[in-house]
Amino acid sequence: MSTQLTPILTKFWDDPQSWTLATYERNGGYQGLRKALGLGPDVLVQMAKDSGLRGRGGAGFPTGMKWGFLPPPDGGPRYLVVNADESEPGTCKDIPLMMAAPQFLIEGMIITSFAIGCTHAFVYVRGEVVHVYRRLLRAVEEAYAAGYLGTNILGSGFDLDITVHAGAGAYICGEETALLDSLEGRRGQPRLKPPFPAVAGLYARPTVVNNVESIASIPPILSHGADWFADMGTEKSKGFGIFSLSGHVTRPGQYEAPLGITLRELLDLAGGIRKGHQLKFWTPGGSSTPILTDEHLDVPLDFESVAAAGSMLGTRALQIFDETTSVVRAVSRWTDFYAHESCGKCTPCREGTYWLKQILERLEHGKGSQDDIDKLVDICDNILGRAFCALGDGATSPITSAIQYFREEFEAGMHTPADVLFPPSDSTLFAKETVSA
Ligand SMILES: Cc1cc2nc3c(=O)[nH]c(=O)nc-3n(C[C@H](O)[C@H](O)[C@H](O)COP(=O)(O)O)c2cc1C
Ligand code: SF4
Repeated sequence: MSTQLTPILTKFWDDPQSWTLATYERNGGYQGLRKALGLGPDVLVQMAKDSGLRGRGGAGFPTGMKWGFLPPPDGGPRYLVVNADESEPGTCKDIPLMMAAPQFLIEGMIITSFAIGCTHAFVYVRGEVVHVYRRLLRAVEEAYAAGYLGTNILGSGFDLDITVHAGAGAYICGEETALLDSLEGRRGQPRLKPPFPAVAGLYARPTVVNNVESIASIPPILSHGADWFADMGTEKSKGFGIFSLSGHVTRPGQYEAPLGITLRELLDLAGGIRKGHQLKFWTPGGSSTPILTDEHLDVPLDFESVAAAGSMLGTRALQIFDETTSVVRAVSRWTDFYAHESCGKCTPCREGTYWLKQILERLEHGKGSQDDIDKLVDICDNILGRAFCALGDGATSPITSAIQYFREEFEAGMHTPADVLFPPSDSTLFAKETVSA
């Protein structure tokens, strides 16, 4: 495992006008597509399989295998839908990628569409990020003008249109089947599976749903080869990924590195925990992945090792909290989010997140009762594995892991408010006057 950064998708983010097609082409853009059009769709699917690329949207499902699940063409439409909803607390890689270098995604969509036989692809963008929506619209326009989209792309006979769709701002619309319902104009709620999207997805037609970073990784794989990609990372978690460091760290930001790098190595690159403080807890992959502590600084950040440590790699959203942070307050805020974003379709999540929120509020304000911790654990047990989609499971992760590592802080919530134990002013990153200005 190398500790070097691997700037590939982030390579020219600091170029002036990094988002333009001209900058992208100057940096080797669209060479992958030229190569892909000379290869058959089956070769491309095999190449994605050989690279070992696994979905970058959280679950880590092998990308080439997902493409291979589509039934054989029957003359009807087949779709590629890119999941650009990115709404998980802490997760912040796809939005900067689309802002800084949107053509990686567009080129990746063209190659993927060619591989799966799709002639109309969609990007579903989180509704609140209007600036990203505009940037994508412009990037698509530029690609049409250059002949990379539309009819007879680069004289190959292949046609493709891309529609960029802005959602209305709901975390559940990142769940792939809720996303498809929302894209079809319905209320975004998860669908019963099977059928899986590969068989009956958008408009009940075979559909591939992939994350932005998964699809953006395809052009570099085409340009440099599957082996080049597979040589990076670990045995089962190949390639590179964007690690997003936020919170109490000296230089927060996006660090693109091989999978298997550790938090200790990333913190070295990021200047460490903010001066004069120590690491208390962190999330490896966003708020729905169980928290870890300073015991886990040397866990390789790959799918298998993080799972063995009791958490999930998720979206590599490394939220860093130092010793000034109340774990009860942090978990209470995340739970407010899950209770708000629960779509209400199933009882364990709809009712459970509401009860969790009330109990955590009591503990946060020093008004908890003797049996509140047991009640939290019991409600989490009744959500985990019983909810209709992974949002419910994710809502329990921060609570059960925080009780596992910091039970005494929850016990203190029976008599002392969290803001007395951990004054918020100690953990804030900005001076008061800056915040109110
Ligand atoms: C509540 C919830 C929110 C999700 N949000 C996103 C998201 O914003 N972006 C994303 O790519 N995947 C998200 N996912 C995962 C998707 O359902 C799906 O697994 C992913 O888009 C597949 O792409 P990949 O195989 O390229 O990772 C979410 C899942 C759940 C349960
Ligand atoms: S787990 Fe929550 S978000 Fe998922 S379907 Fe049930 S109520 Fe909706």
